[in-house]
Amino acid sequence: MVAIAVSELGSISPTPKGTPLARLVGIGKTYGTGETAIAALRDATVDVRAGEVILIEGPSGSGKTTLISILGLLLRPTAGEVWLDGKNVAGLGERALPALRARHFGFVFQGFNLFPALTALENVEIALTMKGSKTGRAARAEATRLLELVDLGPRLHHLPADLSGGQKQRVAIARALGGDPPIIVGDEPTAALDTKTALGVMELLRALATDQGRAVVVVTHDPRLERFADRVVRVEDGLISSITSASERHAS
Ligand SMILES: Nc1ncnc2c1ncn2[C@@H]1O[C@H](COP(=O)(O)OP(=O)(O)OP(=O)(O)O)[C@@H](O)[C@H]1O
Ligand SMILES: [Mg+2]
Repeated sequence: MVAIAVSELGSISPTPKGTPLARLVGIGKTYGTGETAIAALRDATVDVRAGEVILIEGPSGSGKTTLISILGLLLRPTAGEVWLDGKNVAGLGERALPALRARHFGFVFQGFNLFPALTALENVEIALTMKGSKTGRAARAEATRLLELVDLGPRLHHLPADLSGGQKQRVAIARALGGDPPIIVGDEPTAALDTKTALGVMELLRALATDQGRAVVVVTHDPRLERFADRVVRVEDGLISSITSASERHAS
């Protein structure tokens, strides 16, 4: 497991735990039209709060990726509201979305999505530059800081091919933290990792929520990750079938 001392992460976010950061209300998504239309999601309502880890679970094809993609402004809903910063952004035009997405969200995916020809440091640096949050020396310094935060200080100049799966995912997490987004979303970020490494990555995401007040929303098929979650949202056949809190799960 990654030995991240909780205090090492430091508290960067003044946002008190429990502050609402995003809210999906009555979200629906239908892919296509007419006879081939697929209702992937219906009437989904979820709150995302500072300092919380939310897991999204459910069978394959149930709508998890659809749900988290709508939350992360990667996909537009066909019904419902997406609240960010006290505004419903569901109806905003395409041109408004990239800036909002970059300000509010960091993304972590199953496949890491690192540039293979760039070192760990360069991967994080280029993301900062592309986001427009830092350039030049400042980007390099910030990328170094973020990689040290995820315990990769000794691997700055390694290429992805020379890193383990868990290390690659930690590079991706460092990259997601660039620009200091309040919400980290992950679509099966631990699916390509062995159990021990997966738990280590989840422990790191948990620490980012607890210590830095970020919200972490993660799609997973792995019930062993539930121990890190404040709430588990279960999606079945396009509907949220339950939302259970950690205390409810412990009681059952
Ligand atoms: N671009 C698309 N066009 C048409 N149908 C889609 C599209 N993306 C997803 N779907 C359909 O929407 C439903 C939900 O898909 P989604 O990817 O959200 O499921 P998921 O829960 O993430 O599944 P998995 O666990 O396999 O990743 C599925 O029936 C899927 O086939
Ligand atoms: Mg999926």
